[in-house]
Formats: sequence, structure tokens, C-alpha cells
Amino acid sequence: MAEVAFLLNGTPVALRDVSPTRTLLDYLRDDAGLRGTKEGCNEGDCGACTVMVQDRNGARALNACILFLAQLQGKSVRTIEGLAGPDGQLHPVQQAMIDHHGSQCGFCTPGFVTAMATAHLNGDSDHDTTLAGNLCRCTGYAPILRAARAVETAPVPDWLSAPFTLPQISSGECGGADSPPGDACHPATSDDLADWFLAHPEATLVAGATDVGLWVTKQLRDLSPVAFLNGVTDLQHIERQGGALHIGAGVTIETLRKALIPYHPSFAAMLRRFASTQIRNAATIGGNIANGSPIGDGPPALIALGATLHLRRGAEMRHLPLEDFFVDYRRQDRRPGEFVAGLSIPESAPALRCYKISKRFDQDISAVCGCFNVTVADGRVTAARIAFGGMAGIPKRARAVEQALLGQPWTLAAVRAAAGRMAQDFTPLTDMRATAAYRLTAAENLAVRYFHDLSGAPVDVLEVQP
Ligand SMILES: Cc1cc2nc3c(=O)[nH]c(=O)nc-3n(C[C@H](O)[C@H](O)[C@H](O)COP(=O)(O)OP(=O)(O)OC[C@H]3O[C@@H](n4cnc5c(N)ncnc54)[C@H](O)[C@@H]3O)c2cc1C
Ligand code: FES
Ligand code: FES
Repeated sequence: MAEVAFLLNGTPVALRDVSPTRTLLDYLRDDAGLRGTKEGCNEGDCGACTVMVQDRNGARALNACILFLAQLQGKSVRTIEGLAGPDGQLHPVQQAMIDHHGSQCGFCTPGFVTAMATAHLNGDSDHDTTLAGNLCRCTGYAPILRAARAVETAPVPDWLSAPFTLPQISSGECGGADSPPGDACHPATSDDLADWFLAHPEATLVAGATDVGLWVTKQLRDLSPVAFLNGVTDLQHIERQGGALHIGAGVTIETLRKALIPYHPSFAAMLRRFASTQIRNAATIGGNIANGSPIGDGPPALIALGATLHLRRGAEMRHLPLEDFFVDYRRQDRRPGEFVAGLSIPESAPALRCYKISKRFDQDISAVCGCFNVTVADGRVTAARIAFGGMAGIPKRARAVEQALLGQPWTLAAVRAAAGRMAQDFTPLTDMRATAAYRLTAAENLAVRYFHDLSGAPVDVLEVQP
């Protein structure tokens, strides 16, 4: 059982004997009597449960349904009930939603309003992006976007901008390596984590919980013992050194997206379509790699970049090419007690392009994700790294296509001929996202798209809009 201290709408809350997998949403609705936060999908898709979470790194919108109470240690949570001022004065976003008729049945409204208030607090006016994780079934988005735009220049209310004191967080709660596992461990450093995980290799590591949360809410799994990684701050940095970017496993996808814009803009643009703002604010790159999903969006781009993965087990570090980590469907080269510490990628790869194909533009899992990184010198291909998600049981390089390109002139005919080898590399599946034939054709077409993209032609749906 865990002990948790956090601020809830400005009031300190200290909880004892909390199940490590009790979600914030269940606590709010069942224990705290705060039922403004809604339960829609209970799997991070609809945004009805959005809350604002603040800590020393700022304010983030998160989905309460897949956020464990234990992850809130030392943070401040604001729900829809805590957005109005102490005298009942509405938050500007709330007033704008009324003025612009942004709420019809009202079920989605608390989630929209908390997401909008968080974006407003952060001065973020990219509403299409910040609201991509909020689903409204009846009002329609136009009035909601009008409301969001109407408050862009409104000052942040005093009651939200006033400084607040976060509860003290205790560290090293895991005990030593010799101690019994207990239910929950909150390591404060990667050294603590390494010692404890080596001694308790059966434990479940929880980073952002955007995968693990669903094991609890959908599969009702018991995960204990659990180690929560969100306090391991030394795994949350991105460092630029020696022509490389060194990325800690605990860096969130949203932090990574923003950091990559000047280095790998195409990768960053693709990450804009990784789930939603709420999910990207929680999800980590370490979790995206460690889960071994064949349809994760991070690995294809990282493999195309030639990423090196850093694994740690006790005091021992291992470094391997990321593509070698993925052995078979959901089987990774990770030993008991070993965890993903981070990865390194080159800081420059001007020819890298990433393409995500999914049924919806926003908030959808890839049917196919293709990333290309081809070097051309004096008109000929001198190096090629091409990787796909959604085409095999693992994220995988298109080695036959790469081989067919090497030494060839960089022409459309050569690219088409090489793309014809795609069936040698992949035997994709048919599932609810796409048929095998669709996937193969889409992958071949992405190679052609890449050729046109490098030639400067508009190839993105956003580029061809009026
Ligand atoms: C609504 C929704 C939409 C999504 N959309 C996308 C999408 O568009 N693209 C995409 O790629 N993914 C998507 N996902 C999946 C998920 O968000 C990602 O896989 C995410 O990166 C997982 O990171 P996390 O930190 O939340 O991992 P967690 O859920 O905390 O953990 C995932 C797995 O990794 C392990 N783990 C975590 N950190 C480490 C570590 N450092 N070392 C070893 N093991 C570790 C855990 O034990 C667990 O097995 C979506 C999920 C949801 C709920
Ligand atoms: S209830 Fe749908 S995202 Fe949480
Ligand atoms: S107002 Fe009804 S779902 Fe949005």
C-alpha cells in the first residue's frame, strides 16, 4: 500500500494505505465526492476525465482515468470544481463556454474546460492540438473553438496564478535491496531503481501508465509490486553532447516532441499525432520502447535515426542498436531486473521523414508508420535506414528495400523498383486497422512519397489544404 500527499483544488490531501493501482478518477468520484470529472471511455481516449496537474515543471492536462493516485505524490491537482474563484467567479474559459454555447448535453464539458484552462494557463493557443484528446459527441467543435479563441488574451485568474506550496515528498520509500518488496516503491534516483529492481525483478515498472493504466481499468490486473518511475528525475533529461541527443527513458512524449522541433522536425510533426496532449503529457519514450508494441510510433523513427538503446541492470549498463532490442512479437532483449535507462540519437539527420497512416488524423493508433533516412551523394544513394511500425510483429527495418537502394541513382524509377521489395521485408497482418494488402501498398507508396517529399513537393494533407 502506498502513502500519497498532494493538493486537491488547493487543499492538502494525505492518504494512507492507498492501493498502488487506485486511479485518480475513482478517488475523485467515489471518495472525494467530486463527480464533475466524468468517466467516458476509462482508457485515455475521450478526455472526459481531464484534470490539471501542476508541479515544479508547470501545468499539464492529464487523463484521471489512467492516472494512479500514487503518481500524484507531491503534485497539485485541479478539477473542474476547483477552476472558479473562491467567491464563485467563473474562470474565463467557463464564461466563454457559456457565451459561445459550447456545451449541449454537458457530459464532455468538464474535460474540455480543464483542458482549455490548462492551455490558457500555459499561453498555448494551438487549440486543434490541445483539444485533440477531447471528444464531444453533440455540441460540435466550432462553438468550443470559438470559446477557446475568445479567451486567448484574457489574463490568468489570480487564484490560478498565485504561488502554492507543494506537499513534501519523501524519497527512497522502496527500502534497500534486501527489504521485502511491499506493494509500491517510489525511487528518487536511477541508482535506487536499479538496486530495488535487481532485487525485485518480478515488479511492474510504471512510467506514464498510458499502457499500464489500461491493464488495470480494462483487464482488472493486479500489478503489485509496482515501482513508480515518475520521481526518478535523473531519467527525465535530454542532453546534447558530441553531436548526439541523449534522451532519458522518463522524458515524456510531449517534452520530446517540443525538444525535437529544431533537430528532427519531421519526427516532431509525427509526434504531434501521437495520441493526444493528455496522453503525451504522461507517456514516456522509455515506456513506448519497453512495451515492445509493433505499432508504437517512437521506434520506427528512432530506428531510422540509428538510435542506441541504453539498458541498466544493477550497476551494469548495456548499449545496443534499438532494432536489436525487438526480438519477436512482444519479446524484447531485456533481462529480469533490467530497465530502459535512455537512448542516444544523432542530433542531425536532414533527410529523416516520418509518415503516420491512421484512420483518423488525431488521436489514433498507426495502421502503418514509416520512417525514412536516406543519404544521397553525387546523385547516388550512399546510406539508407528505413523502418516501419504496423508491418510486422515488431518495429522493423526494411532491409531488402534499403539494399536495393544502395548505390542506385536517386530517381523515382529506382525508388519504385526498391519499394517493390517491400514484400520481401514484410508479411503484414489484416486487423481492424487495415488489411495486409492495404499495409503493403501503403508502405510502398510511402517510399514514393518520400522521394517527392525530398524533392520539395507538398505531400502532407496539411500542406495541400486551401
Ligand atoms: C488513448 C491512447 C492513445 C495512444 N496512442 C498512441 C499513439 O498514437 N502512438 C503510440 O506509439 N502509442 C500510443 N499509445 C500507447 C502509449 O501511450 C505509449 O506506448 C506510451 O509511450 C507508453 O509510455 P508510458 O510511460 O505511459 O508507459 P507505461 O504504461 O508506464 O509502461 C509501458 C510498459 O513499459 C514498461 N516500462 C515503462 N518504463 C520502463 C523503463 N524505463 N524500463 C523498462 N520498462 C519500462 C512498463 O513496465 C510497461 O510494461 C496510446 C495509449 C492510449 C491510452
Ligand atoms: S474517461 Fe475517457 S479519457 Fe478518461
Ligand atoms: S456537449 Fe454533449 S458530448 Fe459534448
